[in-house]
This record gives sequence, C-alpha cells and structure tokens, in this order.
Amino acid sequence: MVTIVVGGHFGDEGKGKIISYLALKDNPDIVARAGVGPNAGHTVYKDGKEYGLRMIPCGFVNERSMLFIGAGVLIDPERFLSEVEITKTRGRIFIDKRCGVIEEKHKVMDSNDSFLHNNVGTTGSGCGPANAERAYRRIKLAQEIEELEEFLIDAPLELNNAINNGKKILIESSQGFGLSLFYGTYPYVTSKDTSAGMAAVDVGIGPTKVRDVIVIYKSYTTRVGGGPLKTLITEENIEEYPLWKSILKEAEKKGIKEKTINDTLAKYLNEKGTVTRRQRRIGDFDISLARYSAMVNSATQIGISCLDKLFPECHDVREWDDLSERGKRYVERIENEIGVPITLISTGPEPYAMIDLREEKLGK
Ligand code: IMP
Ligand code: MG
Repeated sequence: MVTIVVGGHFGDEGKGKIISYLALKDNPDIVARAGVGPNAGHTVYKDGKEYGLRMIPCGFVNERSMLFIGAGVLIDPERFLSEVEITKTRGRIFIDKRCGVIEEKHKVMDSNDSFLHNNVGTTGSGCGPANAERAYRRIKLAQEIEELEEFLIDAPLELNNAINNGKKILIESSQGFGLSLFYGTYPYVTSKDTSAGMAAVDVGIGPTKVRDVIVIYKSYTTRVGGGPLKTLITEENIEEYPLWKSILKEAEKKGIKEKTINDTLAKYLNEKGTVTRRQRRIGDFDISLARYSAMVNSATQIGISCLDKLFPECHDVREWDDLSERGKRYVERIENEIGVPITLISTGPEPYAMIDLREEKLGK
C-alpha cells in the first residue's frame, strides 16, 4: 500500500510536519524520500526537539520505520552523514546505490552562476549543476563513494518486494508543484519535476502501485527565491483582502512593522527558509495553481497546514467540530474550489496537532 505526499505550491507547504504525523499515525514499514535533493528544508519535531532536515526522510520520527532515499534524489555525502548522526538513524537509513552525488564544485557553480544565483535565486546546494552533470552522464554515483558504502541498497527491489508482501510505504517528496522543471513557473524553477509521478520514479515504483496521492498546501501561499507569486500581498492590494488586513493589524499590535507590508506579514508569520534563512514572500492562497497541481498530481486527498497561523484560535485543535466557524469556512472553500477531499488539517508544528478526517470522509 503506497501513499505519496507532494507539495502543491512552491515548497515549504508544511510537508515535513504532515509526513511526521502520517509516519507516527500510520506506522509505515518504509518511508522513502523522493524529490530533488538537499535543496529541501523540512522542519520536523520529535520529542519536542526541532529538526531542519535536508536529506533524511521526515518519517524518521517513527523509530520502527525503515528509511530509504531513492535514486532520483541527489546526495550530499557530508550533509547526509551529519544528519544520520543528528537523527540517530544509522542502521535503518539506506540509500539507493544509484543516487547522484553532489560535490563541492556543484555548490560553487550553483552560487557563482549569476543567472541561477541572482535570477532564479537557487538554494546554492548544488542540485541544479549536479542534475545537469547527470544529464551529461558524468556525475558520480553513491556506489562510488566509500563513506556511503554501508548505506547502499537497491531501493526499487526492496520497495517492490515490500509492496508485494502487503507492507505500508510512505513516499515523501520535496519542493512543490510550482517549482517543477516541467510544469512550474519556468525558468524560475528547480532542476527536476516535482509531481507525484516523478516521486514514484525517484524511488523506483510504477503508477499502478500507488494508492493515494496527498497534495499538501499551506493555508496561504509563500515563495522564496525568484519567480512570480501571483497572489502576493502588497500595499496596493491589501484592501481587497479583509483577512490579510486583519492579520496585518494583529502584527502591528505585536509591534511588528517592517519596510513593506509583505515583510511585516512574513515576520509575523515567521516565514523564513529552513535552508537559506531567506525571507519568504507571502501570498493569498493561490487557488488556481492549487487546482492545477491537484489535477497534474492526480490528488486523491489534500492536506492543509498552518491553519492556526491564519486563525490563532485554531491552534492545536484536533477535532473538526472544535474549529472556529471562520476556520471551517476557510477549509471548506478550498475543498470546494479544488474538488478533492481535504483529509488532513494541521493546526500546529507538533506532529499530533492535526485534524484527521480520512476515516470520516473516505472510510480509511
Ligand atoms: P534550486 O532547487 O536550489 O535549484 O532552486 C531553484 C528554486 O527553487 C529557487 O527559487 C529556490 O528558492 C526554490 N526551492 C528549491 N527547493 C526549495 C524548497 O525546498 N522550498 C522552497 N523553495 C525551494
Ligand atoms: Mg522547506
């Protein structure tokens, strides 16, 4: 039984938190990381401690799950090895022997290329140049790196065996749909497709093995780096958004006042990149991108994160009935406009701050 979790906007949708909940609640036998590579920054809490993960699957919070990294995911050996120590996952974390390896030169190229650095605003983690080198057929593979030897496996073989034996598999992707090399806001995108089909390829399974695709959106849309954010909140348009006006008022009440309204909102909502610490731009929920990404991903379910950041009274609420009326209406509007059931609603950073409607809405 395979579930894939992907981001539906521009990354930073709260996948890490929702995956950590699913890992604890559903007890998957294997959690497999898909996606681009260490350009991701997933924030996860385990036993009250915050982890900013770039390589290790967020599902590590469940100590009974085996952890895989698929061949489509680029490995930064140094970063990987340090996260193995931080998360104490040695012995249950494995990587596909064919993962491409990021070297120092890729990071240098990523940061020194003026188009990538200044226009696209990449994370500087070397993913783009490494994937380019893969296309040139020159990148080193994990199986050539001595320090990685103890972690190497044939991930597709293990995963497909596990699937055939009825095991539960959770596949976690990274980045978001709007950053897809194929379907995103090209050229302001990452170096690979970021949809559910790609995630399956990344770990080595085919589409017929996938039962559920859960697309994650944050309650509002953010973007870090270059490229358009259609729903950006600005001085010029905030009057059209009563919700954002009231959030701005809350921010100012707390004494937060930055150069622009958007900066003030970003500070109030604490929207800062996990990897690069860059401030994210704040936008209203981009419904048309959400609808499109649900379509291309063939979403069977939707997860919504950070509802409590827009509606503080929803913080840590775990039952639908206990949400405020405006919180409920907000979720219902998104669900109606996308036309896919919203089954997971995250109301805080801790894994169990979650409203789980899977049983109620889908009987599973
Ligand atoms: P790259 O993936 O480092 O090449 O960066 C390309 C674009 O994708 C830049 O705008 C980055 O800010 C963005 N990006 C890459 N990974 C993430 C992520 O995990 N969250 C949010 N933005 C990302
Ligand atoms: Mg992130």
